[in-house]
Amino acid sequence: MAGIIEKRRTLHRQLAERQNTNEQLQTQIQQLQTLANLGMVSAMIAHEINNILTPLENYAHLAIQNPDDEALIFKALRKTASNSKRASKILEGILAMATGREQEKTDCLINAIVDDVFLCLARDFARDNINVGIQISEYLTVRAQPVCLQQVLMNLILNAREAMLPQGGKMTISAGQTDDSVIIEVADTGCGIESENLAKIFQPFFTTKLKESKSERPGAGLGLAFCKKVVDGHNGVISVESEPGCGTKFKIILPNDS
Ligand SMILES: Nc1ncnc2c1ncn2[C@@H]1O[C@H](COP(=O)(O)OP(=O)(O)OP(=O)(O)O)[C@@H](O)[C@H]1O
Ligand SMILES: [Mg+2]
Repeated sequence: MAGIIEKRRTLHRQLAERQNTNEQLQTQIQQLQTLANLGMVSAMIAHEINNILTPLENYAHLAIQNPDDEALIFKALRKTASNSKRASKILEGILAMATGREQEKTDCLINAIVDDVFLCLARDFARDNINVGIQISEYLTVRAQPVCLQQVLMNLILNAREAMLPQGGKMTISAGQTDDSVIIEVADTGCGIESENLAKIFQPFFTTKLKESKSERPGAGLGLAFCKKVVDGHNGVISVESEPGCGTKFKIILPNDS
């Protein structure tokens, strides 16, 4: 009998010790998850800021090479002012996403957002033989955090462009609405996505644009992960359809009352 009681005591002690270890491990996991989130947030901020700094650098070089062209210099300065403001908004938006804070949403004119993306990119798509078609009715709006939505479209547009290099092709950006949501699509006639990669493209750091590949620049694999985070944060859905060699279409559905 005494032996059984002693055995039970030992078992209770072991159980208490294991529970203690378990709690410690769970705290450690939470801390590691917070660190991983922070790492991801920093990488995404760097990625998005880089997207808007690249065109600024181009403008600055143009202005330096043409010191007598006042109009060009003024344009470069205007870009610097507007993109700097955008950079601080991007920081705000991504940090809000990371901390789960509610972001301020407004009724965004989709046409204006798309125009802004092209202005910000300051790239002549025709020079790469890319024909851009925009099919969005003038007054269509969506309830969204404007700078984040702009960055989402910028990432999709940059991906579509890169998929069509060097031969060129057609990019179509369209938007429409149903009773309770808005649908935005970005389609291209580029290289398409291999079926085994389709499930991976929204994962952070997944990229096929490696140094040794024929892509214009190495990718970070963060553009689509960012898009998904923003769309999830708006209670929306982002999906993709693609056929290797024929092209790709990304579709975003955003509820219009979130
Ligand atoms: N329109 C597209 N056509 C073909 N492949 C695409 C397209 N969009 C995305 N992909 C594939 O999905 C991968 C991930 O895209 P994502 O935008 O997340 O990263 P990336 O473009 O490689 O790098 P970056 O972080 O600089 O944007 C790409 O490397 C590419 O393989
Ligand atoms: Mg990308």
